[in-house]
Amino acid sequence: MMLPQILSYGQKNLVFAKYGVYWCNMRKWCKVHLLSNQKIHSLQSMRKQQVELLIESLKNEARDRVVVDLSAKVTSLNANLTCLMVFGKKYMDEDLDKRGFKDLVQDILHLARMPNLGDFPPFLGAIDLQGITRKLKDLSKVFDEFLEKIIDEHVHAHEQKQNKDFVDTMMDIMQSGDAKFQFDRHHIKAILFDMLIAAVDTTASSTEWILTELLRHPHVTKKLQKELQEVVGLDRMVEESDLENLKYLDMVVKEGLRLHPVAPILHHESMEDCVVDGFHLQRGSRMIVNCYAIYMDPNFRGRDFQLVPFGSGRRSCPRMQLAVTVVRLVVAQLVHCFEWELPSCISLVI
Ligand code: HEM
Repeated sequence: MMLPQILSYGQKNLVFAKYGVYWCNMRKWCKVHLLSNQKIHSLQSMRKQQVELLIESLKNEARDRVVVDLSAKVTSLNANLTCLMVFGKKYMDEDLDKRGFKDLVQDILHLARMPNLGDFPPFLGAIDLQGITRKLKDLSKVFDEFLEKIIDEHVHAHEQKQNKDFVDTMMDIMQSGDAKFQFDRHHIKAILFDMLIAAVDTTASSTEWILTELLRHPHVTKKLQKELQEVVGLDRMVEESDLENLKYLDMVVKEGLRLHPVAPILHHESMEDCVVDGFHLQRGSRMIVNCYAIYMDPNFRGRDFQLVPFGSGRRSCPRMQLAVTVVRLVVAQLVHCFEWELPSCISLVI
């Protein structure tokens, strides 16, 4: 397929890497140096600060009764959280390209979801009838330049740094030569790109959909606000430590992930011959799991691997806990601090 080749420097990221020594090591390093519970806990105050900045800006807009583009705000918050976590500092939309994070990430995902005729008979790949390959190459060039800039900045600041971030750690691994496989700048860029794309749009679009559903179901919003008043009160902001006591919020988020899965279809490949539910699958068969159909089944109960918004097994999302925390925190703050309504010219028909 063209997509993994273009976007992941030839399957050097986690999402597209084949199962093997490279994937196992990369996943382990990402988990230890970026996605461990300890690391995520240590970034709690950073998340609090960024969410407070969002609330402050919304308060000013609410005071002036200005219409806000919540979708852009939530994406920008998630881009900031991800950049601070992965690159150690915030970047502005203009640092990437005049189109900004939201549009570029959405363009990539849009192209990634389109069936590419060039993936089937090989000769069609060269013709690129739909122009998908050319567009993907243009977009990946923008990200490549951005990631080059980030790595260069880290190379210059490397020696003086007290607190090393994920990029520094990846560079240390590259320079040490300890990796049991080739590991150069392309591998670092592939992993950084993965973290950016995997984190920004997934978390932002889940949050947006949950807020949309809350607008469509005011009685659910009222119930959620009641829970927030009882558990948190009205004299302070919601803290991450409150989340475990917000049971109704947890249900609202799970239902949002069921109705609007970021990955409605999962692609997997069988590593050996096996039998699934009476069907014989040859080694190397491609399997497509239609999660959306499972979630829409009227007999859905959410048990026995029916609700798998983060996948399941070895290739499941390595940062489910972080993602759920951010989504819950942002939804809770927005519902706790504000009463939401649509501008008079817009009605919600979905
Ligand atoms: C609401 C937010 C999120 C959702 C719904 C989500 C969902 C998923 C799903 C469904 C998969 C594929 C699982 C499979 O193929 O079986 C996945 C993989 C992945 N996710 Fe997430 N994710 C979210 C947030 C994040 C965040 C915040 C990060 C990183 C900071 C992340 C990093 C990854 C990576 C690296 C993979 C590939 C894992 C591998 O193949 O080894 N995701 N995610």
